[in-house]
Amino acid sequence: MTSGTPVLPPDQARERIRYLTDLLTEYNRAYYMEDAPLVSDYQFDCLLEELGRLEAEYPQYRLPYTPTGRVGGEPNRAFRTVEHRTPMLSLGNTYSREDLLEFDQRVRKLAGEPFSYVCELKYDGLSISLSYQDGILVQALTRGDGLKGDEVTANVRTIRTVPLKLPPGNYPESFEIRGEVLMPRQAFRELNAQREEIGESLFANPRNAASGSLKLQDPALVAQRKLDCFLYFLMGDIPSDLHSERLALARSWGFQTGGYYRLCPDLEAVFAYIDYWDKERENLPFDIDGIVVKVDQTHLWPRLGATAKSPRWAIAYKFKAQRVCTRLTGISFQVGRTGAVTPVANLEPVWIGGTVVKRASLHNADIIKKMDVRIGDYVYVEKGGEVIPKIVGVEVSRRLPEVQPFVFSSHCPQCGAALVRKEGEAGYYCPNEEACPPQIKGKLEHFISRKAMDIQSLGEGKVEILYDKGLVRNVADFYSLRYEDLFALDKVFVSEDGSQRTLSFRQKTVENILSGIELSKKQPFERVLYALGIRYVGEATAKILARHFQNMDNLMEAGMEQLLEVEEVGEAIAGSILDFFSREQERSVVERLRAAGLRMEYESKQLSSALQGTSWVISGTFSRSRQEMKALVESHGGKLLSGISSKTDFVLAGEKMGPEKRKKAQSLGIPLLTEAEFMEKIGQGFLQPEKPANPARGETGRLFDDPF
Ligand code: IVH
Repeated sequence: MTSGTPVLPPDQARERIRYLTDLLTEYNRAYYMEDAPLVSDYQFDCLLEELGRLEAEYPQYRLPYTPTGRVGGEPNRAFRTVEHRTPMLSLGNTYSREDLLEFDQRVRKLAGEPFSYVCELKYDGLSISLSYQDGILVQALTRGDGLKGDEVTANVRTIRTVPLKLPPGNYPESFEIRGEVLMPRQAFRELNAQREEIGESLFANPRNAASGSLKLQDPALVAQRKLDCFLYFLMGDIPSDLHSERLALARSWGFQTGGYYRLCPDLEAVFAYIDYWDKERENLPFDIDGIVVKVDQTHLWPRLGATAKSPRWAIAYKFKAQRVCTRLTGISFQVGRTGAVTPVANLEPVWIGGTVVKRASLHNADIIKKMDVRIGDYVYVEKGGEVIPKIVGVEVSRRLPEVQPFVFSSHCPQCGAALVRKEGEAGYYCPNEEACPPQIKGKLEHFISRKAMDIQSLGEGKVEILYDKGLVRNVADFYSLRYEDLFALDKVFVSEDGSQRTLSFRQKTVENILSGIELSKKQPFERVLYALGIRYVGEATAKILARHFQNMDNLMEAGMEQLLEVEEVGEAIAGSILDFFSREQERSVVERLRAAGLRMEYESKQLSSALQGTSWVISGTFSRSRQEMKALVESHGGKLLSGISSKTDFVLAGEKMGPEKRKKAQSLGIPLLTEAEFMEKIGQGFLQPEKPANPARGETGRLFDDPF
């Protein structure tokens, strides 16, 4: 077909669109599901192109299940959140056979009749729920929090093995089917290789790659990601009692069920299935992380019931982390922004679960010593759920005589300063905070990061260039940068495989950087405080400190005692804050930031003045976090006090409030308010008192009369 083909009149176009859509749907099914192509790739592509052209000409005739949807539709701005018709439960996990025995005994007891199991692979991807109406895929939802998920229909349409329209069959008019979206290992390897080439960050494993891909906003990009989908759970009114038969039915309707499942009459057969796949999983084209055991007789499912999170008729047996043996070729040290020195193992490259592992975590000096790991040793490397593989042991029998015990570096590998070890801590620190390059770079990167000053235009290696060229040595230097300092700066980055990438600052880049820096001056005080990178002062602590001390001066002048008055601040945090502000260099950085126009005052978001002029003490636990409760008091004009005294106007009394405090409040005649009463007071009441008040018994439904 060429672009010279005359456009058809509407009636014929409509007919042709329908014809091509159905024909290509059938071709797709034969290709992906039967592995038996009916036409050549070239013929298929020509017909698809013709269909695409007709649809562009007559979008009103485009069918919802059109195979052109497989290459991606319009980009989404954000995914809609949709409630699941039935919650998407998870599964109870076990790593031991004893747990399976227990599971079996419980099921036997509750079932009270003969039954059998179906064993399935536990696909390592992300769960998906597909809805079909009249055989057409109408909605795909991710699991989300189990109750609500993201609507990712356009993205799921690009997965070739997900049928967009089922051939005629005995399926219900409307039904849901659930399964797992995953990325096959080969596709994962190709994707990471491409990303490496263009200098993009790599996905740690196929599961992350699948989840990252399914959440892309542009279905056309998802279409290139070669995702796959296996279905394992048919829901609704299905004309079969047995789960295994339901899987077979789903298969006959055109779904990919994988065909790996087996009927197991008893636990012995279940164990045999587990043993088989524990060895064989290496050879699968995708990752699995265990086996799922399900009771086949679905009429027993309601009898067996479910906990809040998972059904009692199924259990997941997770494989132990995969372990391989390889040679430790060296140990290098990474220095973080706080000076923490982390040992990293360099390994002879080895395959574990579909990825090549060249580096692994070596924890800290104590563990190295305890395991007696030596360079040149054969070590066991394990890859569990976590992203970074770890060294779990040494094969001493393979140790060569010349291998020497490992001596942990006494000096910083980056700046040469003598390392220090803090009392009671396993790790070593480089104390040279002011001049150790990775520490300074780490601090600069922290300052611009998303949760701190959020200067996105400075990301991706640009900070490194600024540092290397000597333009930025501390965070205040960002605000002194001028156009002429930045224009035409460049740096060549060389990656491990020797490939090179040049980053250079053109006019647009420089303008973006400067406007990003300017914009950051509007960030609130609590972010500035967090961005300073004071050890132990995370995002939440920075908020608490900002609220408590109200401005930078108060915080800088606070002594140990005042710092400890803040409920959430313990000695470690207080000590670190004191240490930070005792350093002349840090104080001068803060002054320069102030002079540059950064915010040094806390601005509370005043929502109302419902609590204006009143003092509050919060005690006990609430359905919201304490921090949230405190913020609520303040944002409605209330003042927080740390202890109950005659200055207290109200006590916000949560659950588990200590009896002593309760007594004290009562003896001082201070009203106690429950969370629900408080919420009502500030105009956000929606919680009902647990027990309705009984006026006949003189109850008002409140602990005290409304004080307002
Ligand atoms: S059944 C109500 N079967 O594992 C039971 N889940 O840890 C629904 N998974 O959320 C799940 N393979 O994402 C089931 N063959 C399989 C599975 C499987 C992978 C995932 C699924 C689930 C998680 C639970």
